[in-house]
Amino acid sequence: MTPILSVRDLSKRFGGLAAVDSVSFDVAPGEILAVIGPNGAGKTTLFSLISGFIRPDSGSVRFADQDITGLSPPEIAEHGLARSFQLVQVFSGMTVLDAVTAAALLRLKLNAAIARAGEVLEQIGLSSRADALPNALSMQDRKLLEIAKCIATGPKLILLDEVMSGLTLAEAQVPLALIRRLRDSGLTFVMVEHVMPVVMSLADRVLVLNFGQKVAEDTPQGIVTNQAVRDAYFGEAVDA
Ligand SMILES: Nc1ncnc2c1ncn2[C@@H]1O[C@H](COP(=O)(O)OP(=O)(O)OP(=O)(O)O)[C@@H](O)[C@H]1O
Ligand SMILES: [Mg+2]
Repeated sequence: MTPILSVRDLSKRFGGLAAVDSVSFDVAPGEILAVIGPNGAGKTTLFSLISGFIRPDSGSVRFADQDITGLSPPEIAEHGLARSFQLVQVFSGMTVLDAVTAAALLRLKLNAAIARAGEVLEQIGLSSRADALPNALSMQDRKLLEIAKCIATGPKLILLDEVMSGLTLAEAQVPLALIRRLRDSGLTFVMVEHVMPVVMSLADRVLVLNFGQKVAEDTPQGIVTNQAVRDAYFGEAVDA
């Protein structure tokens, strides 16, 4: 099957640091790819490169048969690629409904966007919080709001950056079920996730980054027994 997303030799340096170093991978339509790696491995930078918030030094990103390398974030969102943020930012004074409406304005006029935002909140179970300020939400609901903002842009693929972190495994069941449902309805996901039980139960494949480089790409089962992955997380084994 033709990949919906193809990343080739993508690189970004910050001064002397290779934050993302010649990373290549494909994502098939309807797939859930998890991206894991230690803190500072380059996961968020990879998402910023794909979604246009940072321009790559070199390499390319193809999405839905188009070269989107170097396009702006709104242009990339219009192609159908949405991205959530690891550090949840909210505009002061905006309600939950306002925030989701703002995302829906990418494709819709105001009244249609408000209606669509209401539907999205209903779909993800946040309707009762529509008039709340995002700061007043529980951590679990803030994460759902991040997903809602992505859905409201009418995407084909969503990049989720740690939408389960900070949640207990029990709390994570709600976004987990939501992501499964959305995938079953045809959406594709690439997700950065630290919570391993979530990765194991949700991902079709796992890509591992360490010091900006891809060190493994395998099924969840293959990843747990991969030596390069163990080294990335625990350092090189020292024989006593
Ligand atoms: N705008 C920037 N300017 C300079 N260095 C940066 C910038 N953004 C990220 N870095 C550095 O690039 C490296 C990769 O950072 P990145 O945020 O992509 O890692 P990450 O894998 O998402 O980490 P975490 O698990 O902590 O979220 C880190 O060393 C980080 O300090
Ligand atoms: Mg990050």
